[in-house]
Amino acid sequence: MSATALKLPTEEVQIIDVEKQFVMQNYGRYHLTVERGKGCYLYDAERQRYLDFITGIGVNALGHGHPRLLKALRDQIGQLMHCSNLYYHRYQGPLAERLAEMSGLQRSFFCNSGAEAVEGALKIAKGYGHSKSPDKFEIVALNGSFGGRTLAATAVTGQAKYRQPFEPLIPGVRFVDVNDVAALEAAVNDNTCGILFEPLLGEGGIVEVSRAFAQKASELAKRHDALLIFDEIQCGLGRTGAYFAFQHWNRPTPEDPEPADIHPDVVTAAKPLGGGLPMGVILMNEKAGAILSAGMHGSTFGGGPLVCRAALEFLDVMTELLPMIKEHGVYFRRRLEELALKFDFVVGPRGRGLMVGLELSVPGKWVVPAAQERGLLLNCTAGNILRFLPPYIIERRHIDQAIDALNQVFEQGPPAE
Ligand SMILES: Cc1ncc(COP(=O)(O)O)c(C=O)c1O
Repeated sequence: MSATALKLPTEEVQIIDVEKQFVMQNYGRYHLTVERGKGCYLYDAERQRYLDFITGIGVNALGHGHPRLLKALRDQIGQLMHCSNLYYHRYQGPLAERLAEMSGLQRSFFCNSGAEAVEGALKIAKGYGHSKSPDKFEIVALNGSFGGRTLAATAVTGQAKYRQPFEPLIPGVRFVDVNDVAALEAAVNDNTCGILFEPLLGEGGIVEVSRAFAQKASELAKRHDALLIFDEIQCGLGRTGAYFAFQHWNRPTPEDPEPADIHPDVVTAAKPLGGGLPMGVILMNEKAGAILSAGMHGSTFGGGPLVCRAALEFLDVMTELLPMIKEHGVYFRRRLEELALKFDFVVGPRGRGLMVGLELSVPGKWVVPAAQERGLLLNCTAGNILRFLPPYIIERRHIDQAIDALNQVFEQGPPAE
């Protein structure tokens, strides 16, 4: 059959069938074929609507079809989509400047995904170590973490199931448990070139790194001349109610009025940055930025005019929404607490802003299709943590709708063992 004669499948069974035949079977998809998105909802071909509380795993943070994003994109598509990094264009510099104001990190490198940002961050750390000593190549990372699917990002992922099939990976990665300050102290030495972790672990089950642990990591990085690297691919860019999750440590809280003074050398971000288009970024201070000079790193697609324009618009809208992200996060967790009081297998909520987990005392996978049947999309990580990454534009009524759906699912109870 010639390419022009190819007919797109319309029926769900055909869509699934053609995927099963021709697409690499590396995803365990849920039974849902998405046709359209608007605001906080996704729609299937039967016009059934689903409240999207997972947002393409944190990508569609402004919901679907945000009018300001669409306007910027439509305009830019007509002007220029791609020109490569052989040339300058109008948007990359201002985007880097805006990100520098938000993060305190002077320089940006733009790429196309989270894994690529982690990969580049590791190159920076290794390049930094190499400039000091050939033995300075070790990375300290966290058990339970997720760094992405490229080989180096896999090597720093603290979950053996992702690493083992591909070993040997890059050497010299040590893992310590989240918030185990003594283990961190034992793992970092003069051969460490980078300490890398997510301030709030996503895939690992919405687990917060403590201020004490982060403070120790910062001290150790200074003492042993290693780079302090935060992976904010899931928790950054407004998700927790701050531009970056690490910034919460530097603010006083009622329980801990003494703010920390933690300044990473490198931060990776991605997911929502391109407003739904693929985009990642490595943010870095001047010390880290000096490592990769012209020709040492690059990307054909990275930082093109279309994604940069989208990102500038995303950052503006996100900034306006920050106070609501905090407020709705508090309300959402309070409503989840009610479910924890009502159902004995619901332990309770955790997380910050709109990065929310609900811990169950039983495995949680069964909840996902059951909630989908009731029009709510979420997912389950770390076996027993329901994960919610709702769009920043939600209102209380959306949270109430999600709670109603969960309440109905929980009334059915977990399946018998
Ligand atoms: C913390 C973290 N790092 C890295 C990645 C990899 O990002 P990507 O899937 O865009 O390569 C993810 C993706 O979920 C992530 O959550």
